Amino acid sequence: MSSHHAPIRVAQWATGAVGREAIAGILDAPGLELVAVKVHSPGKAGADAGNGASTTLSVDELLAARPDVVVYTPRTPSVDEVCHLLAAGVDVVTTAFCFHPARMAEPDRSRLLEAARAGGSTLHGSGLNPGNFSAAVPLALSGLVHRLRKVSLTERADWAVYESTSITFDAMRFGWPPEDVSESASDLLAFNADLFRQQVWLLGDALGADLDEVATEHEVVVTEERIPVFDRVIEPGTVNAQRWRWTGRSAGVDLVEIDCRWTVGPTTADWPAAQHGWTLQLEGDPSVSAHLMTLASFSEPRSMADHVRAASVATAMQVVNAIPHVHAAPPGFASSADLPVPRSLRGFRA
Ligand SMILES: NC(=O)c1ccc[n+]([C@@H]2O[C@H](COP(=O)([O-])OP(=O)(O)OC[C@H]3O[C@@H](n4cnc5c(N)ncnc54)[C@H](OP(=O)(O)O)[C@@H]3O)[C@@H](O)[C@H]2O)c1
Repeated sequence: MSSHHAPIRVAQWATGAVGREAIAGILDAPGLELVAVKVHSPGKAGADAGNGASTTLSVDELLAARPDVVVYTPRTPSVDEVCHLLAAGVDVVTTAFCFHPARMAEPDRSRLLEAARAGGSTLHGSGLNPGNFSAAVPLALSGLVHRLRKVSLTERADWAVYESTSITFDAMRFGWPPEDVSESASDLLAFNADLFRQQVWLLGDALGADLDEVATEHEVVVTEERIPVFDRVIEPGTVNAQRWRWTGRSAGVDLVEIDCRWTVGPTTADWPAAQHGWTLQLEGDPSVSAHLMTLASFSEPRSMADHVRAASVATAMQVVNAIPHVHAAPPGFASSADLPVPRSLRGFRA
């Protein structure tokens, strides 16, 4: 946006790993103004959000700051909360869900759409994966291709470096007995699996794949060793490796696949070797491949904590940088396939 326009008023919802980076990004972005920060933990209320705005527990106070857009990054999203914001006329960008609303379960989809129409507001979900690496980048690379045969994204990550152990252990259920680590045993794993299924549908729908189904395969492997992870421990006999594969098929042919191979520490899993990070392959005419990583720096020494943090920065910036596009979009849903690819708002600026 050019400098003579009024800045877009932005409020941040939640100050976890992603929310903190979103605040830093909003404060530094030309054309955005941070007007409110909503926190969940009472101990975090009443603090300076970074530019004089103070943090609040109250949604009413957040709305009283008249935000144009809310960056919604809670640990667990609530359709009620997002409907409330949309109906109040506030656009919402989120890293937590709604990556491909067209394939979202009813009645959530209809409720969100109704609220957006009532408020004349727009909802956009994105991030790193789901988000940029599994939607914006493959769609951009598909621009090189005459005819596609398959799109696949492989994510290889060792969560042992990831300090948010409540997500690793409580949400993703690493360290649990194998019979408790499945979609049917955990609402959170089921929710997570559905987000990735939606992402496969998004690529299929956007690229004319005419998918019949998105199948989920889930495999777990237990550790024989005791593996300490920050404040927690993975005990022998519990799960320390999970492979999730979401495959979009048309007439029995695999066309779109997201394959996540996640471990915590060393594993005996005999999965095909994959480079750490994200490997994207478009099979077609021509075939195109890219390996993607986020690190704090490729040229300077940085701590492991900084490298891990880089993924949260990337996740936050993908939706912060999308704010001008989302704010300009018509009311309703705006997926990564609908919007122009966000670019860094701050860029090289000092
Ligand atoms: N798409 C992607 O690529 C991607 C990547 C990473 C994360 N994510 C998603 O982005 C969201 C934020 O991730 P994160 O790493 O920032 O998570 P986080 O650090 O675990 O927590 C986010 C914040 O949620 C609030 N919170 C905690 N417990 C809560 C509860 N019981 N009810 C309501 N709020 C609660 C807290 O806010 P306060 O600090 O304000 O009290 C917490 O700091 C999550 O939904 C995550 O799954 C997406």
